[in-house]
Amino acid sequence: MIDIQHLHKTYGNAKKANDDITLQIYPGEIFGLLGPNGSGKSTLFKQMTGIIQPDYGDVILNGHSIVSDSLEAKKTFAFVSDTPDNFLQLKGIEYLNFVANIYQVPNKEKAQRIESTAREFGMYDDLGKQIASYSHGMRQKIMVIGALVVNPDIWILDEPMVGLDPRSAFNLKNKMREHADKDNIVIFSTHVLEVAEQIVDRLAIINKGHLVFVGTVDQLREMNHSDKSLEQIFLELTDTEGENPLSQEKLDAAQGV
Ligand SMILES: Nc1ncnc2c1ncn2[C@@H]1O[C@H](COP(=O)(O)OP(=O)(O)O)[C@@H](O)[C@H]1O
Ligand SMILES: [Mg+2]
Repeated sequence: MIDIQHLHKTYGNAKKANDDITLQIYPGEIFGLLGPNGSGKSTLFKQMTGIIQPDYGDVILNGHSIVSDSLEAKKTFAFVSDTPDNFLQLKGIEYLNFVANIYQVPNKEKAQRIESTAREFGMYDDLGKQIASYSHGMRQKIMVIGALVVNPDIWILDEPMVGLDPRSAFNLKNKMREHADKDNIVIFSTHVLEVAEQIVDRLAIINKGHLVFVGTVDQLREMNHSDKSLEQIFLELTDTEGENPLSQEKLDAAQGV
C-alpha cells in the first residue's frame, strides 16, 4: 500500500507545487494521476520516490517511510521519470544490467528477463548502443524495460506513454494490468484523459497543487448529472480562471460557442 500523508512542497518562494496531498493507493490497483501541465504531478512523484524532500508530510510505501526509512522504502518501487535522460553514457545493456544488479535480480534470470522484455518493446537490437544515441521514446522504453526487469511491487511511472509508439504503449498497458492483477500497485501520471480512462481502476485529479478529485471514472462521471463528457468535467475541474490554455473562453471557442 502507498499512504501519502499531507504532502506539501514549495519551490523557492513560488506558489505551492503540492498543497496538502493525502491519498491511499491499494494493492491490485492501477492508479492514474491526472492534471494539466504544471499542476504538480512530477513534484508528487519526486517526493514519493525521495528525489526531493517534502516540506511537510510523508509517504509510506509498503510500511516504509520515504523520509525516515528511505533505503527500505526505495526497494519497494521502480520509478520511470518523465525525463529519461539519465545514464546517457551507458549502453542500453549496461544500464539494464546495472539496475538488475542494484535490485539483486538473480544472475540466472537476469539475461533471460532482459532479452525477453527488450524484445517485447522492440529494443533488443539497440541494446548495444549508447543511450545518448536513443530518441526520447527509446530512452523512455529502456527505463520502462529496466523497471519491468527488476519488477518490484510498486511501479511509479511519470507520463510513461509520452513518446512511445502504439505497439509499445499497448504492451506497457498490458504489463501494467498484469502487474496490478498480481496484487501489486501501478501509479502513473498523464495529462491525457483518454489514456487514463482506458486503464485506471481509480484516479486522482490534481490542479495547482491541490487534489480536486479522487475516485473511479464512473464516480467522476456521476459527479455531474448533466450529460457532459468526461473531458468537459475534467476541464472544468482543472480550469484556472483564464491563466492557462484551457480557459473557458478557449473551451467555448473550441466548441464553436
Ligand atoms: N525544480 C523546480 N524549481 C522551481 N519550480 C519548479 C521546479 N519543478 C517544478 N516547479 C514548478 O512547480 C509546479 C509543478 O510542477 P510539476 O510538478 O513539474 O507539474 P506537472 O508534472 O504536473 O507538469 C510548476 O509551477 C512548476 O513550474
Ligand atoms: Mg510532470
